[in-house]
Amino acid sequence: MLSLHVLLLCMGAVSSTQSQDPMLDQEWELWKNHHHKVYNEKDEGYRRMVWEKNLKMITLHNLDSSMGKHTYTLGMNHFGDMTNEEFRKMMNGYKPKAGNKVNGSFFLKPSFLKAPAAVDWRKEGYVTPIKDQGNCGSCWAFSATGAMEGQLYRKTGKLVSLSEQNLVDCSGAEGNYGCDGGWMDKAFQYVIDNRGLDSEASYPYMGIDMPCRYNPSYNSINLTGYTDIPSGSESALMDAVASVGPISVAIDAGHFSFQFYQSGIYYEEDCSSQRLNHGVLVVGYDTQKTFFSDQNYWIVKNSWGVGWGNNGYIYMAKDRFNNCGIATAASYPLV
Ligand SMILES: *[C@@H]1O[C@H](CO)[C@@H](O)[C@H](O)[C@H]1NC(C)=O
Ligand SMILES: *[C@@H]1O[C@H](CO)[C@@H](O)[C@H](O)[C@H]1NC(C)=O
Repeated sequence: MLSLHVLLLCMGAVSSTQSQDPMLDQEWELWKNHHHKVYNEKDEGYRRMVWEKNLKMITLHNLDSSMGKHTYTLGMNHFGDMTNEEFRKMMNGYKPKAGNKVNGSFFLKPSFLKAPAAVDWRKEGYVTPIKDQGNCGSCWAFSATGAMEGQLYRKTGKLVSLSEQNLVDCSGAEGNYGCDGGWMDKAFQYVIDNRGLDSEASYPYMGIDMPCRYNPSYNSINLTGYTDIPSGSESALMDAVASVGPISVAIDAGHFSFQFYQSGIYYEEDCSSQRLNHGVLVVGYDTQKTFFSDQNYWIVKNSWGVGWGNNGYIYMAKDRFNNCGIATAASYPLV
């Protein structure tokens, strides 16, 4: 599965001229305070301009949403002073990489399975609170810990937050690049090779590359392998989510609409199903019934804090031709 070898780098320049709107002076000050933004005099004018442009595009999108043109709304957030180019560089760096087939087994749908119409593993206790990767391209580590936390809970009935920093610092031998990107399957491979992974509490997140400090006395999970979902099949992903638990997925998250997603069912017609650049966690799925039509969606946990999206989550279109590649490179660990 070639797509599994796409490097998921999730980390962080510049143009255009526009005059400032004095009516937004107060809002700009509020936004800066709220997000603890401090600029030198030289940068502030440019950042204000980027922010105003983003604000305008968010407002226009929401106006279109109110007239039924989109199924989701956008909102200003802590990425407000970044152009989409900068956002993509910081959060979703992309490097294609050829690689040998890794050790994943293939997902086979359990023969008895009839996937229910809706699943939400958050309600069953499988999912830790939203985390924040900060300025580090470690989305792959957060996606991987999310899937491991779910499978550990399934096995032991205990929800233990696992250490992304342990993966960032120590899985270079498996082919990961710390804050410069990585893959969930290589994170699982590390836990297999290392015979363990420390807990979040014992090995807290720093958001920078550091020397490996794995301590076996805080090991919190043993993996026996991992499984890849048939690439591109949303029905196989649905069967896996229904029968296994939260599943690691890679998506194209590079668009303006993703940068400022706030609520509703995300569908981006410019999304690629192959150019994947961000690792996240599918924790369920459901259908939104509207007067006109039923819309299926995936419930997706992101790692950009609770200030992004819908309290840290995004509801992504399901069964719409693998939009944003959500079913292209899905996998889960075997505990
Ligand atoms: C496959 O697993 C073996 C044993 O754990 C390991 O030595 C090897 O590096 C793995 N291969 C890949 C491509 O991860
Ligand atoms: C992992 O496996 C080792 C060896 O079987 C065992 O001693 C240890 O308790 C296991 N750790 C966890 C967290 O399950």
